[in-house]
Amino acid sequence: MRLNRYIAAAGITSRRKADELIKNGNVKINGVVVKEPGPSVGPDDRVEVNGKLVQVTEKKVYLMLNKPNGYITSMKDQADRPVVRELVEDIPERVFPVGRLDYNTTGLLIMTNDGELANRLAHPSHHVPKTYRAEISGVLSPERVRALRKGVDIGGYVTRPAKVKVIKHREKGAIAEIEITEGKNRQVRKMFSAVGCKVMKLERVAMGELYLGRLASGHYRKLTRSEIEYLKSL
Ligand code: URA
Repeated sequence: MRLNRYIAAAGITSRRKADELIKNGNVKINGVVVKEPGPSVGPDDRVEVNGKLVQVTEKKVYLMLNKPNGYITSMKDQADRPVVRELVEDIPERVFPVGRLDYNTTGLLIMTNDGELANRLAHPSHHVPKTYRAEISGVLSPERVRALRKGVDIGGYVTRPAKVKVIKHREKGAIAEIEITEGKNRQVRKMFSAVGCKVMKLERVAMGELYLGRLASGHYRKLTRSEIEYLKSL
């Protein structure tokens, strides 16, 4: 954002008066006096007017993205693989993902610039239920379903009780929905593996009472006011 606009957006004064303040040497960016109205101010820059720090508080944005396969749930990737940030590029605010989904997992991902809400939701103590639809290979027998529901050892950790619903049995596999209230690394894949099945496809379809619905892969939508209130109430 241009410096004069930044000062106006911070509520200090009008853009025209901001130009005057700048011209008169009253404004510093990162400790250096700037006399041109044009330099652009980034999110990490420190702007002072008459020695006082001024800040623009960004509007809070809450999005639901349908994460496609082959995207990293982060802002940057060392190996230059596609990242979810690229899918919300036209949102000017710096939104980031709440929690993570594996590279190969698709589906519901909340993105926001509300750091407090993001931290709260992603915190392990929070136990927000998350529902996944899994296509698996192997026999999903009633005993295996019972074990998944009760809790299985995924390598030094026994999972909390989960809800499991078999949607469809196939010749060499099944489609199941599983709701878990924790978020260990690759948890759903490890849970099925613990009972001798393999997850072939994994999609997150709900987070509490937020549903992915018919949102197309790679697309996002803004959350409604009631969805935002719901997330804040969790
Ligand atoms: N469980 C997994 O195994 N992978 C995910 O991406 C999310 C939950």
